[in-house]
Amino acid sequence: MNRPAILVTHPLFPAVRELLDTHCLPEYWRGAQPMPRAELLDRAAEKDGLVCLLSDKVNEELLVRAPKLRIAATVSVGYDNIDVPACTRRRVVATNTPRVLDDTTADLAWALLMAVARRVVEGDTMIRTGKWTGWEIDQFMGTDVWGKTLGIIGFGRIGQEVARRASGFKMRIIYNNRKHASAEAEKEFRATFVNRETLLSEADFISLHVPLTAETRHLIDREALAKMKPTAFLINTARGPIVDEAALAEALVQKKIAGAGLDVFEREPQVLPALLPLSNVVLTPHVGSGSVETRTNMGLRAARNVVAFFEGKQPPDALNPEAIEKP
Ligand code: DGY
Repeated sequence: MNRPAILVTHPLFPAVRELLDTHCLPEYWRGAQPMPRAELLDRAAEKDGLVCLLSDKVNEELLVRAPKLRIAATVSVGYDNIDVPACTRRRVVATNTPRVLDDTTADLAWALLMAVARRVVEGDTMIRTGKWTGWEIDQFMGTDVWGKTLGIIGFGRIGQEVARRASGFKMRIIYNNRKHASAEAEKEFRATFVNRETLLSEADFISLHVPLTAETRHLIDREALAKMKPTAFLINTARGPIVDEAALAEALVQKKIAGAGLDVFEREPQVLPALLPLSNVVLTPHVGSGSVETRTNMGLRAARNVVAFFEGKQPPDALNPEAIEKP
């Protein structure tokens, strides 16, 4: 069988290229900047498959321009960049990369939580700018993490890994989710289901782990922020638009909440200017899954989905298996 022509919107990593080069005829985007939309539309036109990033929108516009496309594999667990119903209508299989990034993303949620609670970035900046004049009893006093209440909104795989890490900090863990977790999971993670109101008002740290959907957009709005304790912290490693960024900046300026750790933003790569001067927020540039091992595994997972599909198998991470044409 002829090898399928695929477009890969980033060179990804050697192990991923090795796999794709063996099974497909890949064209890699090697530009210094993310692939511009016009290039994507042009180069996808004659391709059978696409390996893309979450910054690449796979929507009706692209599908019309790429009539031969059979699979779109995003190298991310979140797939809000893919219009899955549009793919299904056009019999394009969409895949994502679940599981391989759960631990790494949970680690970053914890890094942000610790950094903002213990004022790590403020201390680092003081030292680097030569302003540290010596130990002082009341310098950069933070907030204890251990023994506090952690509220997890979205208790899927990543949320559960965040909970697992909280045990070492002797925390009480409460969660809110569309569905109750199983009794075994609640026991394993020592987590108790509460309604959203209770979570917002009782948690000392709130960590978000829901996907971005119409229902979760601005889940944390002005009203939700007003329910949080003035001593509480918000951590977002999920998707920016889940939080109303302007309302959050206002809450941080007015000390309605104590602080925030943000890895994702409403209009990436733009960050609301009001957040930038605030010392009670720690910002990272969407690197939740950003370890060498995990990003490589994500790329491999996307590549394996593509290879499986062109070998006539169901891709392990098919989001719309109904789009696969029966022989
Ligand atoms: C994802 O996978 O959805 C992350 O946001 C990028 O790692």
